[in-house]
Amino acid sequence: MADVLIIDDDQSLCNMMVELVKNLGHQGYYSTSLHDGVNMAVNGNFDVVVLDVQMPDGNGLEVLPQIKDAPSSPEVIILTGAGTEDGAELAIKNGAWDYLQKPLSPKEIGLPLKKVFQYRDTLKETRKPAVALKIRGIVGSSQAIRASLNDLAQAANSNANVLITGETGTGKELFAKAIHANSRLAKKTFIVVDCASLPETLIESSLFGHEKGAFTGADRTREGLIQKADGGTLFLDEIGELGLSLQKTFLRVLEEKKFHPLGGTREISSDFRLICATNRNLEKRAGEKKFRKDLLYRLQSLQIELPPLRDRLDDIKELAVHHKNRICDRYGAEAKGFSSDFISALRSYDWPGNVRELVNTLESCISTAFYEPLLFPQHLPTNIRVKMARASVLEVPADRATGFGDDAILPPDSIPPYRDFRDAILREPERKYFQSLMAYTHGNVSEACRISGLGRTWLYTVLKKYKIDHKNWAKNKSKKQ
Ligand SMILES: Nc1ncnc2c1ncn2[C@@H]1O[C@H](COP(=O)(O)OP(=O)(O)OP(=O)(O)O)[C@@H](O)[C@H]1O
Ligand SMILES: [Mg+2]
Repeated sequence: MADVLIIDDDQSLCNMMVELVKNLGHQGYYSTSLHDGVNMAVNGNFDVVVLDVQMPDGNGLEVLPQIKDAPSSPEVIILTGAGTEDGAELAIKNGAWDYLQKPLSPKEIGLPLKKVFQYRDTLKETRKPAVALKIRGIVGSSQAIRASLNDLAQAANSNANVLITGETGTGKELFAKAIHANSRLAKKTFIVVDCASLPETLIESSLFGHEKGAFTGADRTREGLIQKADGGTLFLDEIGELGLSLQKTFLRVLEEKKFHPLGGTREISSDFRLICATNRNLEKRAGEKKFRKDLLYRLQSLQIELPPLRDRLDDIKELAVHHKNRICDRYGAEAKGFSSDFISALRSYDWPGNVRELVNTLESCISTAFYEPLLFPQHLPTNIRVKMARASVLEVPADRATGFGDDAILPPDSIPPYRDFRDAILREPERKYFQSLMAYTHGNVSEACRISGLGRTWLYTVLKKYKIDHKNWAKNKSKKQ
């Protein structure tokens, strides 16, 4: 059953709509004031909002982004007495489901309503996580993140060690906290140790604790984090940074659930659930003998691989809305919507720093547009806009380069000489290759010849063909990508 909110100053229309929604098997609510209606939409849990444009206390189109950004992401049907083409276009661009003009018979409004209910039903079905989870702050409904959420559910229901892998900023710490919060240890302690932030000796003393006088400066006995985690969860972040000797000691703790504090002989027991995270490839490091294989096997009883953001671009909008609202709240900035091309601009970037980079980028946009109601691509930081522009220039699809569509067979009257055809297809990737080569070698021709395997004369010829001046790369290192 769907919940529908009607915002219209026409009381009789509201009554008619509530009745209609009820007859279709759903629940209708209404507000004859725009201000109250927006409050209800933002704080309620509506599937559909039917919104009038000209209301005594404001214009419905202006609050459309705010309603669309409500936590329930309702579909909005605009219902207007004074329709204009521009208004319709603006509404659809800002994410309205439909734009209808009054007067409407119950039959005329019934059809779009049925369609939107059907759509919400399928949406609920695809978004349902395999197991009901308290997913604090984890946003996304793409297939890639849903697979990770299923793994999360499995990890929460078990007591096995978990290894969370993924590039920087993909949400490893967020997932570790969510596993704990959904596990039977939720009410016990959750201890975090960041293995990358401290030198080896300090990690050792903070993990194991020490007795008074164990080393210079140890003026009192200190309890280690392993002991603090007793009965709860120990989260070892960046475990790939742990040195070999500590790996060995820690393996023993995992096997025996007992350890000695530094400088002490007494044995301490600690029974904890272990979650680790890393952005390194531990299999590879084990192959290079930098990570113990036996420890790795123990860590990865369960493994959760988090997808990079570029592989779940469908989640960008949901992530951007979620973090934008959080940031605006935190800094007391004016509530904001997105211009129609803002999200597509975000989608065109490859996000090497993943969700963290997205969050930082939104922070920067919001501080630039602190008092403005909409975020535009122009508010994005320059370095990102430059990368986007470069990518759009470099990514010329082969079809466009050759002038042919993607049919398997070229039309007989337009088969060009083979060399022209080949040259057209290869031009862009080849230019990209030589540009990268210059960026990497800082324009050093000998080095570029060594890497590419080309002779000097050949290299100079190609650079000339693509108008790449190697001296520019040497002089201006900021061009290095
Ligand atoms: N699925 C998600 N939904 C909402 N926010 C997310 C999601 N994934 C990551 N974030 C946000 O991205 C930021 C980075 O997340 P987190 O610190 O968990 O990443 P990480 O993988 O541990 O990164 P690193 O490897 O750099 O330590 C945080 O602000 C977090 O809230
Ligand atoms: Mg982290």
